[in-house]
Amino acid sequence: MSDRNAPVGVFDSGVGGLTVAREIMRQLPNERIVYFGDTARVPYGSKSRDTVLRYSRQIIRFLRTREVKAIVIACNTATALTLDTVAAESDIPIIGVIHAGAKTAVESTRNGRIGVIGTEATIGSGIYTEVMKKMKPGIQVFGKSCPLFVPLVEEGWLHDPVTEEVAARYLKELQDKDVDTLILGCTHYPLLRSTIRKIMGDGVCLVNPAYETALELGRLLEEKGLSSTGTKQEDFPYRFYVSDLADEFRGFANSILPYDVEMTKKIDIEKY
Ligand code: DGL
Repeated sequence: MSDRNAPVGVFDSGVGGLTVAREIMRQLPNERIVYFGDTARVPYGSKSRDTVLRYSRQIIRFLRTREVKAIVIACNTATALTLDTVAAESDIPIIGVIHAGAKTAVESTRNGRIGVIGTEATIGSGIYTEVMKKMKPGIQVFGKSCPLFVPLVEEGWLHDPVTEEVAARYLKELQDKDVDTLILGCTHYPLLRSTIRKIMGDGVCLVNPAYETALELGRLLEEKGLSSTGTKQEDFPYRFYVSDLADEFRGFANSILPYDVEMTKKIDIEKY
């Protein structure tokens, strides 16, 4: 039985999962977090299922050494390709981000036309379409992969004319489909929210799965009797690990988290 005051493990291929960690910090301030960003092996979105499954298993093994009580796969690609497998192998709860985003989108759409943007692997897996059609059979889902978004975010070009031009090209297809709801189906993309908003206009509801994922985590911990009993833990409530470029990661994390990340540690993930 896990200790309810143990941390929650959160992982992503890089910095994108920080958008989910940020939401968990906001909604569940008493929970400790151990974050892992696979900065040496990002991007996942152009890799095969076998490779991403190997990465996910290694990261889960690493997080288990930190005695986490539950794990959030804060990466749509790893969720799409590996959640079912790794959750079935695990004796602690593991959740992803796709179910949460799909649920919000289905509840938000008025015209039944939903767009999803994500990596090639996520869109290619068809998982958002599958999950949403199960929730509401009549809806239409239009997927579009946006492979250049992740490098642009990792480069820190969040508000840049180049990013705007790239986004305009990718999103044109979805504008033409008249979607009224757009899922930001990659955890890096909420960092491009203002650019995407500018192009899609105020009439389109932008869904960030992070919000609903944090809610789902809160419900799950409660249900399993795993919610932290502590009040906000001041001594290192959040720990950050990466597989490369620890200082760059820390700088980026500090620019988006409402909290000062003092230390990020590089580990050799291939050892796990
Ligand atoms: N942030 C990740 C996602 O949500 C993937 C980015 C990548 O590594 O390609 O899909």
